[in-house]
Amino acid sequence: MFKINEKSKLVEGLNEEKKLDRADIHSFHRYYGKLIPAIPSYFIKEFTKENDVIFDPFSGSGTVAVEAKRLKRNFAGVEINPLSVQIAKVKTYNLDEEILDKINNELLQIIEKDKTKVKEDEKPYIMNRNHWFKDFVQDDLIRIKRDIDKYFDKNKEYGIEYKKFYLLTLSAIIKNVSNADTRHVFPGFSKRMHQLEEEGKIHTDVKASFKRAVKSRAKAYSIYENNKNFTDILEGDSTEIDLSKYKNKIDLIVTNPPYISSVRYIETLKLEMYWMEVIKTLEEYNNLAHEMIGNDKLKKEEYKDIELTNYKEINEVIYDMYSIDIKSAKIIGEFFNKMEKVIIKMSKLLKKNKYLVMKISDSKMKKKKISTGEFLTLIAEKNGFKLKDVFLDEINNNSRSLTTARNTYSDIITHDYIIIWEKI
Ligand SMILES: C[S@@+](CC[C@H](N)C(=O)[O-])C[C@H]1O[C@@H](n2cnc3c(N)ncnc32)[C@H](O)[C@@H]1O
Repeated sequence: MFKINEKSKLVEGLNEEKKLDRADIHSFHRYYGKLIPAIPSYFIKEFTKENDVIFDPFSGSGTVAVEAKRLKRNFAGVEINPLSVQIAKVKTYNLDEEILDKINNELLQIIEKDKTKVKEDEKPYIMNRNHWFKDFVQDDLIRIKRDIDKYFDKNKEYGIEYKKFYLLTLSAIIKNVSNADTRHVFPGFSKRMHQLEEEGKIHTDVKASFKRAVKSRAKAYSIYENNKNFTDILEGDSTEIDLSKYKNKIDLIVTNPPYISSVRYIETLKLEMYWMEVIKTLEEYNNLAHEMIGNDKLKKEEYKDIELTNYKEINEVIYDMYSIDIKSAKIIGEFFNKMEKVIIKMSKLLKKNKYLVMKISDSKMKKKKISTGEFLTLIAEKNGFKLKDVFLDEINNNSRSLTTARNTYSDIITHDYIIIWEKI
């Protein structure tokens, strides 16, 4: 039975964990819908020991990966968005602060002096690029990218991980140097930005931003000193990817899946993704958005037929929604069918009597409540798990910003649960 456990013994421990400082590396790159690090760190400490293997099928910007590594555990994860994969990888590299300092001394000087011309065809495809970026900003971004490429071509001894550190730092400053309002989740050239612009209050200095960003991030790697654990971030679709090498090898899963509808994760990162050229055309962008769980990028012909699940309780909600809005009914059916595939995979990976910890919330669509936590528990219980514990967690501000943005055209999130299932 899915019922909130008011007396869960885990709440107090988690609340204590939330009081601890978080590692600086977590703020390497903006990412909406991040987990707070206390959630993975608490459950990792509580349920595993050093050198165990932790898994996350929706690894995002790598919060679980970072905490696993920091606590000397191994980690495997899957993520569909190629930029997120880069973020999680760079955050978990074993980089040496002294080497970073040495590179900084050389590379930042080269960048500082670079006044070379930039040609139009060197700039990446971005829809309305000139709306988002001033000319001189575009030129400086290209110069920095070019200088990084050249520097690491010449200094091959440093290897690809150091190069990726610099490229990802460049990605991390893209939104700050664009015309988009950094207070907004989805890129937008807001009234506030126009006003600041008119008043001459925007002083974008791309090279100075990059320099500051590099220096602060270089200091964040000391947490991994002498770390020998592995971190394996796989790029792909969690519903399909081959994970047989981890069968029966996982000691704990901690994850927060996408919300059920319309959270346009990819849109929040689109400027960075185009600049980093992980997507190069509008078609590639749309295809990726379409593959993400919980997306609303459905074409009419895709939702003309009802999509049901193996669960009568979920189907009742789908039928109900079908009479109100066919597209929303499809989104619900697809969400639970995809989540079933991922749950089946997780059940194969996890060792017996080990735990799957999930942070998830119920949703509302067209004013109808969808009991996501309860429905996922039904699915888990049919596929080798039993419910061990469930309690409410505060919605953190980071995911709230995403959900309020979403509210303007969709619905609200009611509760955030932490659910713990045990593999039987
Ligand atoms: C709520 S976020 C996870 C955030 C992560 N815990 C963090 O702290 O950064 C959900 C993630 O699932 C990813 N995702 C969506 N559909 C996916 C799929 N089919 N396979 C793998 N990842 C997917 C999204 O790109 C997003 O990064």
